[in-house]
Amino acid sequence: KIEGIIFDLDGVIVDTAVYHFRAWKKLADEMGFSFTEDDNERLKGVSRMESLRILLEIGNKEVSEEEKKMLAEKKNKIYVESISGMGKEEILPGVMNFIQELKEEKIPFSLGSASKNAPLILKNIGLYHSFDAVVDGNDVAKAKPAPQVFLLGAEKLQVNPEGCIVFEDAQSGIEAAKAAGMFAVAVGEQAKLKGADYYITSMEHLTLADLKKAAVH
Ligand code: BG6
Ligand code: MG
Repeated sequence: KIEGIIFDLDGVIVDTAVYHFRAWKKLADEMGFSFTEDDNERLKGVSRMESLRILLEIGNKEVSEEEKKMLAEKKNKIYVESISGMGKEEILPGVMNFIQELKEEKIPFSLGSASKNAPLILKNIGLYHSFDAVVDGNDVAKAKPAPQVFLLGAEKLQVNPEGCIVFEDAQSGIEAAKAAGMFAVAVGEQAKLKGADYYITSMEHLTLADLKKAAVH
């Protein structure tokens, strides 16, 4: 039985990857190394500081802790500015219909995001109050692939982890969902995402009936 649903934000509800990419690329440009969209795949679902660590690894740069803090703040400033104009129109296709179905069937749902900017984005797209719970990068000490962000979501929804279905577009998120004992739905290219229980290319055309069928197996 489906007891609760947990959605990742970036790449599932909205497509913010490109904004994250542009902000990191600006830093890379300034430090004088190249950073491609392919490189950016490695940052999906990964916390801000871990993303920075990977970026610096790609650029072969060693910097002090203090400088790391500064760089992360700089990236975030660029990112926040780029999402400030975001609105409802950026909600990905299929999301609103699916949420509507969940509401009709009274299945509770929460957000499980690594982003500290998740509340801001949800407010910008007008969905903050639709969620029964919001768990984001501000609430957990251990980022994905640790299961904490999803376990806390289940707890807030007052449901069992085994009864939860997680929607994720990132490898780290799928691993986190599986570590939490949940059913993992990968959203995106199957070849890039390993270990999920069910695969969809996007939220578009997804129905609760399909999901129920998939999740009983
Ligand atoms: C995740 C994104 O949702 O949030 C990552 O997929 C991002 O790319 C992470 O690094 C942390 O985001 P923020 O907004 O806290 O810097
Ligand atoms: Mg994501």
